[in-house]
Amino acid sequence: MKLKEEISKRKTFAIISHPDAGKTTLTEKFLLFGGAIQTAGAVKNNKIKKSATSDFMEIEKQRGISVATSVMGFKYKDKLINLLDTPGHRDFAEDTYRTLTAVDSVILVIDCVKGVEAQTERLMEVCRMRDTPVIVFINKMDLEGRDAFELLDELEEKLSIKVRPMTWPIGIGAKFKGVYNLGDSSLNLFESSKTKIAKDVTKIKSLQDAKLDEIIGSKQGDQLREDVELIEGVYEELDETAYLNGEIAPVFFGSAVNNFGIQEMLDQFVEIAPTPRARETNEGEIKPDKEKFSGFVFKIHANLDPKHRDRIAFLRVCSGKFERNKFFHHVRLDKNLRFSNPTSFMAKDKSVIDDAYPGDVIGLYDTGNFKIGDTLTEGEKYTFKGIPSFSPEIFKEVINNDPMKSKQLEKGIHQLTEEGVAQLFTARMGNKKYIGTVGELQFEVIQYRLQHEYGASCTFSPMNFYKACWFTSKNKEQLEEFIRLKSNYIVNDKDQNLVFLAQTSGILHITKQNYPDVEFHFTSEFKSQNALR
Ligand code: G4P
Repeated sequence: MKLKEEISKRKTFAIISHPDAGKTTLTEKFLLFGGAIQTAGAVKNNKIKKSATSDFMEIEKQRGISVATSVMGFKYKDKLINLLDTPGHRDFAEDTYRTLTAVDSVILVIDCVKGVEAQTERLMEVCRMRDTPVIVFINKMDLEGRDAFELLDELEEKLSIKVRPMTWPIGIGAKFKGVYNLGDSSLNLFESSKTKIAKDVTKIKSLQDAKLDEIIGSKQGDQLREDVELIEGVYEELDETAYLNGEIAPVFFGSAVNNFGIQEMLDQFVEIAPTPRARETNEGEIKPDKEKFSGFVFKIHANLDPKHRDRIAFLRVCSGKFERNKFFHHVRLDKNLRFSNPTSFMAKDKSVIDDAYPGDVIGLYDTGNFKIGDTLTEGEKYTFKGIPSFSPEIFKEVINNDPMKSKQLEKGIHQLTEEGVAQLFTARMGNKKYIGTVGELQFEVIQYRLQHEYGASCTFSPMNFYKACWFTSKNKEQLEEFIRLKSNYIVNDKDQNLVFLAQTSGILHITKQNYPDVEFHFTSEFKSQNALR
């Protein structure tokens, strides 16, 4: 009973956005509403600044600091909310994708001037892989942005999801006055405040209320009435099941920095966002209310101090109850482990916890037992699915500068790639190793860390690969022929899966034509069943 009660209180989510759309600002406002911080600025300090791209150590340092805010727990109404932070820097996109496997829903922030941007589309693709429920927040309505209806069309078109506005902006840019709540036909006009949560100053009960025209003027009043009529005619009511299935996204408008439209969204979020959901394993679904504990590691953070090579593994609790000092089973290593100081995170504070429930994320101190995707159970042998690797965009071969230190290099490369800093591909013949990343920054990080933490020195030689493709086929003969004839371009990933490194999109296209029965995938996890790989 207690377990079910704990589960029903929890909501675990992430805020995602293209850099600069307002993710950090919105996070801060949520923490203010939740009473977890008192003034704005607390989160901002931990942000990885986009301008610092050349100064990677600074970024690593900031990444280190951001451990404290990797998970921000706060209470709102009677709910316990776990907000998982995702790095804003594009080069750490893989980190973000993995974090998305540990949440039950997301809030997507869109800049109203820029609309749907490249990173927004990619993040949504990842959400769709798991049918993650999405709420959209269209931010910066105080700027001269695009027309609200046009933005909704763009969302539907580019993100392939139906939308339903829940609030509506009154004016835009200099004329932006606030948002009308379509759900309860009310209007809260807030005083804008950059640092604290202002009390609502005016509450209006209906669109017909004469006070409305008094406050926003009859021109904007008429426009609002007209817009609302159009919305009710064009958009269907929000179907909560469709939202939970990831088919329709409720949309809110506002200005994070001015604190407009946030409370409307947060109120709706606690109402409709899913409580911890069931997760897929290789032996079927595990429901959160299963009595026996289970969880998986989705992120590993290295200690920056080279004298302490310990790391923090972030574990999402999926079922049952996690307890401090109790032995749990590490499925991959077939080994029992216990944790004497597991930590939870409340806004900026870390504290040791005695227990944790489904939906919670805890930090486990690790001396090298964990790699991303590892499952912990109460003795059962299943493993969680759903931590895919995505095709990197930049590939380089590792060149060892110091043959005397080959062992250190090998060990360092393995540990760093297990942390998820980059992906490692190994040639099946010979000893060539390729590193694949989303951004250039990781190469600098790897080189620096190999030198300082492992005493190994290497350089990278660029490789002209376009994509890493995991592949499957039901046609054994064709699969074997493909592997034989393309052997120079077929490597192993970290889990010994075969991966085809296509040099160009043209080559991939021709390969697909030549081997019609071989299926190519840009992520390591795909829905193809009963296929050989
Ligand atoms: P991110 O985490 O998604 O990268 O975005 P962040 O919240 O840092 O916001 C990016 C910039 O947009 C910040 O300005 C922030 O103040 C601004 N911003 C956020 N919400 C709004 C809004 O509703 N309206 C307007 N006009 N601006 C908004 P900055 O100049 O980069 O930082 P700062 O010096 O203001 O802190």
